[in-house]
Amino acid sequence: MPCISLPAKAILSVRSVRLPRLAPMVAAAMMLSPLALPAQAGEFNLPNGPDRALVYAKCRTCHDLQYVVESKGLTTDAWDGLLSDMEGFGVELTSDEYDRVLTYLSTYMGDKPAPEPAAGDGETPAADGATVFADNCTSCHQEDAQGIEETFPPLAENSDLFLSPDFPVKVLLNGMSGSISVNGMPFEGDMPSFGHLSDAEIAAVVNYLRNAFGNDAKAHPDIPEITAKDVAAARDPAMDPDQVLALRASLK
Ligand code: HEC
Ligand code: HEC
Repeated sequence: MPCISLPAKAILSVRSVRLPRLAPMVAAAMMLSPLALPAQAGEFNLPNGPDRALVYAKCRTCHDLQYVVESKGLTTDAWDGLLSDMEGFGVELTSDEYDRVLTYLSTYMGDKPAPEPAAGDGETPAADGATVFADNCTSCHQEDAQGIEETFPPLAENSDLFLSPDFPVKVLLNGMSGSISVNGMPFEGDMPSFGHLSDAEIAAVVNYLRNAFGNDAKAHPDIPEITAKDVAAARDPAMDPDQVLALRASLK
């Protein structure tokens, strides 16, 4: 295990969790409440580069990106060792994902200067809602969108997706934090911000969810399809995760 200095507070909050080697989602569910720091938009951002989104998807389930940001400067070997440690804690990575995460970390968070981004570089994958969902959402909301009891609400058969045209967009752009009830069941946690996704990706995943997993956009003729332009407009003003919670309550 590489030796990395973290602020004492962060180490304490993690250490006090006593992470057992449980099934990953159980571990994540156990850890989320005590560990999740407020998902403040833009506070811990990683440099743009290929596979940055994969790191966001895989490395924010148990702790926020502070750990990764503060470990900048590690050698490739040290990142490799750290990734195996994370696997021991329950991070699930296929060998392809492992290589892509390791390449990202050693290129952009390594001990050598990161390459200048090429013109037009960055995240421009085709905006397919099912892919955006699989890559970014299933670690918490699960592949069948049923969520995890008390921790991650279901997105299946969830009428909150239709609370207003851009409510789910606001959740994705800003995160959401605090206790909620979905289909009569209580949940409390921190939904991290996905503001790093492109406008087209956010529009695609919202439109996808409104027509998948038992949700039916046709039953909500007052809710139009979201466009990338709508998402761009919804970025301003930025909100705190608890303001999004208040917005949700006001729409109920
Ligand atoms: C299943 C939960 C879980 C996930 C998901 C997770 N981590 Fe961790 N991570 C931990 C725990 C627990 C610690 C604290 C380890 C300690 O204090 O010794 C930690 C600590 C860290 C640290 C601090 C370094 C240290 O050794 O103290 C870094 C850096 C880190 N994680 C990177 C990552 C990266 C990169 C990913 C995504 C590939 C990731 N983590 C995903 C559980 C997780
Ligand atoms: C790190 C775990 C995590 C990830 C990853 C995640 N979510 Fe969430 N999500 C949550 C939590 C926790 C909540 C509930 C927040 C609360 O209790 O206030 C939530 C709430 C939501 C809500 C509001 C549900 C309601 O009934 O009000 C939507 C919509 C949502 N998430 C969509 C997504 C989408 C789409 C993705 C992928 C782009 C995603 N989430 C990724 C944890 C996550």
